[in-house]
Amino acid sequence: MAHGFLLILLFSHIITTNVHACHQIERRSLLSFASTLSSHPLNWNSVNCCRWKGITCNQDGLVTHLLLSSKGLKGAISPSSASLGNLTHLTHMNLSHNSISESLGTEFFLSLDHLEILDLSFNLLSGKLPFSMPSHNIQTLDLSSNRFHGAIPSSFFQKARNLTSFNVHNNSFSGLIPSSICIHSSPLIRLLDFSLNAFSGNISPGLGGCSKLQIFRAGNNNLSGLLPKDIYNATKIEEIAFPFNSLHGAISEKIFNLTNLAILDLSFNQLSGMLPLHFGKLSKLKILALDYNHFDGSLPLSLMNCTSLVEIHMAANNLEGDISMLNFSKLNHLSKLDLLRNHFIGTFPTSLYSCRSLKAIRLSANNLEGQIQPEILSLKSLSLLSLGGLTNITGAMKILMHCKSLQTLLLSYSFKGEEIPNDEGMLDVGGFQNLRFLSIYYCEFAGQMPLWLSKLKNIEILILKGSRITGPIPRSLGTLPKLFFLSLADNQISGEFPKELCGLPRLVHEPTTTQVDDYIDLPIFTAADLYPIFYPRRLSNFAPTIDLSLNHIRGRIPTKIGQIHLVHNLDLSSNYFSGNIPEQISNLKNLENLSLSMNHLSGNIPLSMASLNFLKSLNVSYNNLEGPIPTSTQLQSFNASAFEGNLKLCGAPLPNECLPIKGIDADSNNNQGVDNGNQFPWLYIFIALGFIVGFWGVFGSLIVKKTWRYAYFQFLDHVQDRLYVMITVRMTMMKRRLRGD
Ligand SMILES: *[C@@H]1O[C@H](CO)[C@@H](O)[C@H](O)[C@H]1NC(C)=O
Ligand SMILES: *[C@@H]1O[C@H](CO)[C@@H](O)[C@H](O)[C@H]1NC(C)=O
Ligand SMILES: *[C@@H]1O[C@H](CO)[C@@H](O)[C@H](O)[C@H]1NC(C)=O
Ligand SMILES: *[C@@H]1O[C@H](CO)[C@@H](O)[C@H](O)[C@H]1NC(C)=O
Ligand SMILES: *[C@@H]1O[C@H](CO)[C@@H](O)[C@H](O)[C@H]1NC(C)=O
Ligand SMILES: *[C@@H]1O[C@H](CO)[C@@H](O)[C@H](O)[C@H]1NC(C)=O
Ligand SMILES: *[C@@H]1O[C@H](CO)[C@@H](O)[C@H](O)[C@H]1NC(C)=O
Ligand SMILES: *[C@@H]1O[C@H](CO)[C@@H](O)[C@H](O)[C@H]1NC(C)=O
Ligand SMILES: *[C@@H]1O[C@H](CO)[C@@H](O)[C@H](O)[C@H]1NC(C)=O
Ligand SMILES: *[C@@H]1O[C@H](CO)[C@@H](O)[C@H](O)[C@H]1NC(C)=O
Ligand SMILES: *[C@@H]1O[C@H](CO)[C@@H](O)[C@H](O)[C@H]1NC(C)=O
Ligand SMILES: *[C@@H]1O[C@H](CO)[C@@H](O)[C@H](O)[C@H]1NC(C)=O
Repeated sequence: MAHGFLLILLFSHIITTNVHACHQIERRSLLSFASTLSSHPLNWNSVNCCRWKGITCNQDGLVTHLLLSSKGLKGAISPSSASLGNLTHLTHMNLSHNSISESLGTEFFLSLDHLEILDLSFNLLSGKLPFSMPSHNIQTLDLSSNRFHGAIPSSFFQKARNLTSFNVHNNSFSGLIPSSICIHSSPLIRLLDFSLNAFSGNISPGLGGCSKLQIFRAGNNNLSGLLPKDIYNATKIEEIAFPFNSLHGAISEKIFNLTNLAILDLSFNQLSGMLPLHFGKLSKLKILALDYNHFDGSLPLSLMNCTSLVEIHMAANNLEGDISMLNFSKLNHLSKLDLLRNHFIGTFPTSLYSCRSLKAIRLSANNLEGQIQPEILSLKSLSLLSLGGLTNITGAMKILMHCKSLQTLLLSYSFKGEEIPNDEGMLDVGGFQNLRFLSIYYCEFAGQMPLWLSKLKNIEILILKGSRITGPIPRSLGTLPKLFFLSLADNQISGEFPKELCGLPRLVHEPTTTQVDDYIDLPIFTAADLYPIFYPRRLSNFAPTIDLSLNHIRGRIPTKIGQIHLVHNLDLSSNYFSGNIPEQISNLKNLENLSLSMNHLSGNIPLSMASLNFLKSLNVSYNNLEGPIPTSTQLQSFNASAFEGNLKLCGAPLPNECLPIKGIDADSNNNQGVDNGNQFPWLYIFIALGFIVGFWGVFGSLIVKKTWRYAYFQFLDHVQDRLYVMITVRMTMMKRRLRGD
């Protein structure tokens, strides 16, 4: 029995090896290819190369497939015909996700004329593209995520009449987009991906000739000019994605010819004009992303007929109109609606309550008004809600606490003159059970810090900034098991720094649990004039922070502060802290930003602070500190303004020398003889130069000038909604706020 079985095995082996016996030339070529790599854990030893890992041969023993993706290959592909070039029957080559380096010589392609599929993505290839494509038969060419640079010559496509997919995403290509690709060479093209490169200039006409084009991506380049007119002729197109460029002009009404369009992403450009009236014809449209342009006018009513819509992103435009008049009820698949920072008026549209797929709604920074309605609870999947202009904070909290999926709640410019509910029993029934990110900022409500906040067992980021909260910080906040970002800045909080905060588990113990899904459903970004700053898309990527600045907190900084060694930002500035800076502050080895300025701290700066290696920004200005600034590469590298306003503090970077009797600091003696009387001009020069030193650098001026302070915080607040003020400071809001003061 056993012998028979072995015989059969042997026999079948002989048959298969005979059928696909490896050509010796092919074998040599493969080995020569392998030998040019510095690492090839392939184990290519046996005689018959057709049985090697990753190799397939045809009947004649000629290699047709070389599929070696993610095999840990390292080193250069030899450009000469000595190796792969001799595999003349190769049709499929996939070397993606390796570490293959150097450039592709023209010779590399010369003899590979049967090649149909070439995938070299995710390697370290560099240099320019050869003058022309490897093969007449090429269908798919994927060079994405390498380090190629230079222009793509239009001759490159000349031979490639069968090309259907061309992907150069994530390289450093420059020059023009080769948009004549379909006219002169590759009429069958279906996918073109030029995104994440350095292409520039206009997108010249030609793509209209791509009658088969389905996907066209060119985002994250430096493209300018208008949308190409003939893109509207590419009627097969399903995806147009040009985000993050500098395109201007309007979207043509002709867009309704593109009836297959499912994704239109033109966000972060300079497009303007009204939105086309006939969007409604685009019955397959799923994602419409036009954020951060200059569109004006109202949302076209016909958009409410696009029943396939899943995401509408219109943030940061100049759109207007009464949003409550829109009837969203046909959009059964709508999952994300982002109208942040426009000029919409009205109340929360009641028709949205019937869009049961909604996960994220952001309508803040418009001119909406009204109260949260209990019907919002019918949105069972709602996980992110960001609104402004609300009244009735008690009602809002009592309704929203039953929103079971709610993870991120951002409320701004609401509840003016109201009092935050402090009813202890409020969350007894387990409200806000999934809330992880709560930000109620610039709301100007009053009242004490509510104790129920300490029942938000899943809260990770808590921001209550810019209101009129009084009373002490509840000790029980220190028990919140997941809290790692706490900002209570710019309130009227009194009392001392509660020692219990120094026990916040997430700031004391390295996390052990595995990462749960903590994606925020909408991107959070802020606007500099041209380039928005993006905030982390994951909660866990926010930097651990305690910000109690601009309050009335007094007493000493607790010595236990040394326990929260995972904190990255600590801002206690503009309070009434007194006593010494505790030595233990030097235990905060992850500290990047430390501001203690504008307090009543006294004594020396602890010598040990010289060891805070990660410190990028320090500010201890305007206290009563004295003695020499400890000498370290770090502390002396800061701007002198970080130490100013402490009359008895001395040594670099301050201009005043320490008196030698103190004898402690030896290093700064080499500058003896500098006239101390000259310090003031230097200070003024530093102050004049030191504009924009970042988050912590501006506080001084902010306290002096209230209008600056508002503009500044609206810019830098850790939530997206801050962005609106940088570009269009809404005067009404400003005036209201100033009057309120
Ligand atoms: C590849 O082919 C050329 C000529 O056809 C030959 O000279 C060379 O030795 C071959 N290389 C290998 C590795 O077989
Ligand atoms: C190359 O191989 C990878 C991994 O198997 C695969 O994901 C990719 O689709 C292949 N490329 C082509 C063009 O087939
Ligand atoms: C292109 O594809 C067609 C059909 O698959 C095939 O007949 C032709 O040989 C291919 N090559 C060229 C260069 O057209
Ligand atoms: C871009 O390529 C680099 C490697 O070259 C890779 O690490 C990165 O993930 C790629 N990014 C994208 C968005 O594909
Ligand atoms: C982008 O293009 C403009 C001209 O359109 C040019 O002035 C600018 O330097 C380019 N920027 C980059 C980063 O290439
Ligand atoms: C686009 O289509 C219009 C109308 O069908 C036609 O007049 C125009 O020539 C086309 N443009 C291109 C570049 O194909
Ligand atoms: C666009 O649509 C209009 C009207 O439906 C039609 O007359 C025109 O030919 C279409 N253009 C193209 C290029 O399909
Ligand atoms: C929306 O579709 C309905 C029915 O299909 C149609 O009667 C209505 O005119 C359309 N509205 C707009 C604004 O296109
Ligand atoms: C919205 O339209 C639906 C029909 O699609 C209708 O039943 C509903 O009453 C409308 N709602 C509003 C608020 O107009
Ligand atoms: C606040 O909201 C609650 C809950 O919706 C409601 O019962 C109450 O009447 C509202 N208060 C005011 C003043 O509108
Ligand atoms: C520290 O402040 C600087 C600005 O001064 C900022 O760029 C940086 O992100 C801050 N660090 C952290 C961890 O937030
Ligand atoms: C430190 O804070 C003071 C007052 O808040 C400010 O004037 C100064 O510019 C700040 N210096 C640095 C380096 O941040």
